[in-house]
Amino acid sequence: MAMARARCSRQSDTRRRLVAVAVLAGVLLLPVAVAEGEGENRSAARQWATGKDEGELVSGEESGGGGGSVVEDEFAGGFGSLDSMLQWAIGNSDPEKLKEQAEGVQKLSADDLLKRRMEIKELMEKLKMPSDADLMKIAIADLNNSSISVQDRQRALQELLVLVEPIDNANDLDKLGGLVALIQDLNNANEEIRTTSAWVLGKASQNNALVQNQIHGYGALARLVKMGYATSAEEAAKALYAISALIRDNVNGQEAFQLENGSAMLQHILVSNGVDLRLQKKAVFLVTDLADFQLNSGTSGLPFLSDRVFLKSVVDMLSKFDLDLQEKVLLAIKSLLKLSSTEATDFQSCDLDSVLYRLGVQLEELPSEEQKEYAGEVDDLRREVQMLFKNKLKEGTKIAL
Ligand SMILES: *[C@@H]1O[C@H](CO)[C@@H](O)[C@H](O)[C@H]1NC(C)=O
Ligand SMILES: *[C@@H]1O[C@H](CO)[C@@H](O)[C@H](O)[C@H]1NC(C)=O
Ligand SMILES: *[C@@H]1O[C@H](CO)[C@@H](O)[C@H](O)[C@H]1NC(C)=O
Ligand SMILES: *[C@@H]1O[C@H](CO)[C@@H](O)[C@H](O)[C@H]1NC(C)=O
Repeated sequence: MAMARARCSRQSDTRRRLVAVAVLAGVLLLPVAVAEGEGENRSAARQWATGKDEGELVSGEESGGGGGSVVEDEFAGGFGSLDSMLQWAIGNSDPEKLKEQAEGVQKLSADDLLKRRMEIKELMEKLKMPSDADLMKIAIADLNNSSISVQDRQRALQELLVLVEPIDNANDLDKLGGLVALIQDLNNANEEIRTTSAWVLGKASQNNALVQNQIHGYGALARLVKMGYATSAEEAAKALYAISALIRDNVNGQEAFQLENGSAMLQHILVSNGVDLRLQKKAVFLVTDLADFQLNSGTSGLPFLSDRVFLKSVVDMLSKFDLDLQEKVLLAIKSLLKLSSTEATDFQSCDLDSVLYRLGVQLEELPSEEQKEYAGEVDDLRREVQMLFKNKLKEGTKIAL
């Protein structure tokens, strides 16, 4: 299965080089270990060093069944970095096997060994390690190629997912045409491609105002909001992840979210039955995050946070029997209660009082032994919310008088 995947995938020159470099690194480093370990006996090193010639090494992954295919495959599954690839090459060279192969081979002089190592070093320099920018260009060219297979497209996306993690790489993405290609793939016919594209966009824009604003410039939020309605929990979750990353601490993004009717999408996730619980938790978490931002920045950019119907859909979540979800919902209500833009009477009309009371009863009766402690913590939070609500009601009455 793994082999088949490796074989059918199209291999670019640079990927081939990567494989060769990884194999070479193993060749170069191992003789040192063996030679040092064996004192005068360097025969094992000789066998290893002469076992393959350069031509074979460079095209090593094409011999099938060799280390190359495995490297290629693991890379597709995500070598985090070139370093990890080198680690793999080193880890997969078995000294015992080498020793066995060395049986009966005459000694290699120190000079020979040195010469051999210089040759390999030269070869490595000739091959050149590709930069992250080179790798991104290759992946982006794949995305830009409409005749590429779905598997290759998915693999290019997986590579970008790793590559955009360092902030400098994320900053280069737009310059290399990556954002346009990724945003285009949000409309791909294949669900997995759409999902991974959203994931990469989210990862690239996380805590990165430059990339956030570049993506907003392309108007990608509208499409992501639509994806939030997807029936596939995975697709909706990754869309929500990308949206969160794009509008976090970003006033422009939050305005766009409001404009694109993002609140209706959030509400859809909150109130629909049969929606994945993890997705609902993510949506509640986003509400808390947005409310906290509004609280800390003093902006009032998101009217939907104080909309009565929206507040009701949040409060109603407390009736779901999931301790973790209930805790997240309580945190959201706590932040929403603190907003000066929300009305205590709106919470009152959602029956917040009796919902909190019923939750208290449930927390006391329901928990099994192992959930007791957690239930206690959630109950403390419940009391805190109750208190905040009472005070907000009092404040409201004072102002009304
Ligand atoms: C050198 O290594 C070979 C192969 O492992 C072994 O047969 C031989 O006894 C070793 N010689 C010395 C001097 O250690
Ligand atoms: C696009 O992909 C196809 C199929 O993999 C390949 O044959 C072709 O050379 C690629 N085109 C470009 C411009 O890279
Ligand atoms: C994508 O392909 C088009 C032509 O098909 C080309 O004009 C554009 O420069 C390419 N973009 C990237 C990033 O390769
Ligand atoms: C937002 O979405 C809701 C629910 O789909 C819809 O009723 C409402 O008209 C939409 N508002 C705008 C401004 O698009």
